[in-house]
Amino acid sequence: MSHPAADAADAADAADAADAHPTPAGEQAAFPAWVVRAGEGRRTAAALELVPLTFLEDRGTVVRVQFSSLNYKDALALHGRPGVVRRTPLIAGIDLTGEVVVSDDPALAPGTLVTLDGAGLGEDHHGGLAALANVASDGLVAVPAVFTAQQAAAIGTAGLTAALAIDALEDHGLVPGAGPVLVTGAGGGSGGIAIALLAAAGHEVVAATGRPQQAERLLGLGASSILDRAELEEPGRPLQRQRWAGAVDAAGGQVLASILSSLREGGAVAAFGLAAGTDLPASVLPFILRGVSLLGIDSVRVGIAARRRAWERLARDLDPALLDASTRVVPLANAKDEAAALLEGRGTGRVVVRVSGG
Ligand SMILES: NC(=O)c1ccc[n+]([C@@H]2O[C@H](COP(=O)([O-])OP(=O)(O)OC[C@H]3O[C@@H](n4cnc5c(N)ncnc54)[C@H](OP(=O)(O)O)[C@@H]3O)[C@@H](O)[C@H]2O)c1
Repeated sequence: MSHPAADAADAADAADAADAHPTPAGEQAAFPAWVVRAGEGRRTAAALELVPLTFLEDRGTVVRVQFSSLNYKDALALHGRPGVVRRTPLIAGIDLTGEVVVSDDPALAPGTLVTLDGAGLGEDHHGGLAALANVASDGLVAVPAVFTAQQAAAIGTAGLTAALAIDALEDHGLVPGAGPVLVTGAGGGSGGIAIALLAAAGHEVVAATGRPQQAERLLGLGASSILDRAELEEPGRPLQRQRWAGAVDAAGGQVLASILSSLREGGAVAAFGLAAGTDLPASVLPFILRGVSLLGIDSVRVGIAARRRAWERLARDLDPALLDASTRVVPLANAKDEAAALLEGRGTGRVVVRVSGG
């Protein structure tokens, strides 16, 4: 197997060509892909390359990728940070949306528009920042008819995770009218979709952001009020005023500890992120004196039944126009540059990567 490393200009040209003329698998000798290769020490280096079709392992379903998206994990992978890419060389991209070219799953006819989020893409398996992918069919979800391919990609891991978090809270007993539900990381991808989904389901949403300039957009998504993130960043007493009936947390660290100490009796927080850190400087008192719960969300390994349920919620409750208003579309060649903002906590809404036209 050869791994030709074309220079970035050639790869960008190929990305443009793929944009203009999407070509079925088998009719092109090589396709553009963001490839992560081993670098110095634990670091890696990512570049847009032309790779041969043989670069992909046969995992059962070939997808012509139309769109991918940028998540925090993609930013880490594209910028050489450890913790995401588990083997090299590896095509980056934890999300993809596109058309089935051929599949060993009879339920997936050629031309079916599918989306796949997590499931080891861009971590253990070649991912979605490429014109072609070869994936296992067991995590694939048919894109609901209410969404275009671009909108499904805008949802991506961020939207799947937000929906899983709300499913978990409602399974735990959260009902509309129970009290305010806090969303942290509200200005980011997952947080924004969580706000829209919670509001559409009838919950009162408080959006916590470190960026007051995001307030108008977050109110437009359905938040009823805005909380300054700084209020959650200071260590406080283990039992504080009972404020939140539930919470969706993208931050972790002291922010998550503060949420735990101000959940109402029997309330729960669905935690999936580490934007504020991986530590949890918390007390057991809210658990044993208020019966609160900490619900962990892992969108990568979640099974197909939960994925389908989450996409049903998204199709029912996420207004595509609201999603579009919080989405930016960028070309494949710009993925690495665009990802830099996510690493710095400056990401806003969702960034979709146009791979092959759609
Ligand atoms: N467990 C899973 O399956 C799963 C799935 C998806 C994502 N995640 C994780 O969830 C987190 C959010 O993902 P995302 O895609 O929504 O990322 P994102 O678009 O980059 O959003 C993260 C947001 O967190 C806030 N933030 C940044 N720095 C912070 C800090 N120091 N303290 C508190 N908040 C901070 C910012 O919003 P404001 O400026 O508005 O505060 C930022 O926009 C990431 O840590 C990601 O790795 C986990």
